[in-house]
Amino acid sequence: MLETDVCGVQFRNPLMLAAGIMGSTASSMNWILKSGAAGVISKSFSLNPHPGYKNPTTVGVDGGIINAIGLSNPGVDNFKEELKQINRVNNVVIASIYGANPEEFKELVLKVQDYVDMIELNISCPHAMEGYGASIGQDCNLSHKIVSASKDVSEVPIIAKLTPNVTDICEIAETCENAGADALSLINTLGPGMKINIDVAKPVLFNKFGGMSGRAIKPIAISNVYSVYDAVDIPIIGVGGIYTFEDVVEFIFAGARAVQIGTAVMDEGIEVFSNINDGLEKFMKDKGYSSIDEMVGLAHRED
Ligand SMILES: Cc1cc2nc3c(=O)[nH]c(=O)nc-3n(C[C@H](O)[C@H](O)[C@H](O)COP(=O)(O)O)c2cc1C
Repeated sequence: MLETDVCGVQFRNPLMLAAGIMGSTASSMNWILKSGAAGVISKSFSLNPHPGYKNPTTVGVDGGIINAIGLSNPGVDNFKEELKQINRVNNVVIASIYGANPEEFKELVLKVQDYVDMIELNISCPHAMEGYGASIGQDCNLSHKIVSASKDVSEVPIIAKLTPNVTDICEIAETCENAGADALSLINTLGPGMKINIDVAKPVLFNKFGGMSGRAIKPIAISNVYSVYDAVDIPIIGVGGIYTFEDVVEFIFAGARAVQIGTAVMDEGIEVFSNINDGLEKFMKDKGYSSIDEMVGLAHRED
């Protein structure tokens, strides 16, 4: 009943772990998969090891958290060893990659595609170091080049992960579709945001600015999914502020075929996946829905 299809990839339920939360080791990703997620997305990684920012890298605020981790990762050659150990039987394993230009993305795709079912292009991190991150996803020309370069060499479906920090998210969504993306995920963190420590009169985060995630960003994510659903024909994966089955239903009705969960895993623990699956199944039975497919985009009907 909970099965869903995203560009030909079958998920046993619509829930996956979002990039950047508990996605750095095979053991934690296997644990998440055993706990009810149908798919996991790795922490974003790059060609070379990257130290990221110094602490503090996250801070709690009303309605969520602000983070500026700086995409720290041990580089693809080390990360590959983790990907190889994730259990892919009945699970969907997705690598999240980032680079500074089309050539780097291409090289990353070639290095990891044998170990994963899909690849998500992180072109949307708002607090990445100069030249990486959202600056790509805010530039249609560069996004087009990166998506099409990745598609050229990829044997697995390519997901482009979009930033909400643009004037018109539909423009960038259409650009990625035209460049050959098989699916879109949205949204990455919102911002930048900032929290000031009033005792020392300084921003809390080492990077000063960070990306906002958690409950407060959900209405923005929902409206972006709703708008992008009308603009493109490729499947959408919704992400941003999901804590409950009701949140998932909203995303599906807005147009998502599957969803990702990040901050709620930090706040509520890994039980969030099984709790949502149980609630979603009961909701579908109570309301007479027999598949996720028939629920996708329902909020768009005009009657
Ligand atoms: C601590 C933290 C680290 C993150 N790291 C990444 C990352 O490496 N790559 C990426 O594409 N998104 C990253 N994100 C963004 C999430 O994947 C997600 O898009 C965003 O947090 C909104 O979902 P949420 O409200 O469920 O957390 C990160 C988010 C948080 C909170």
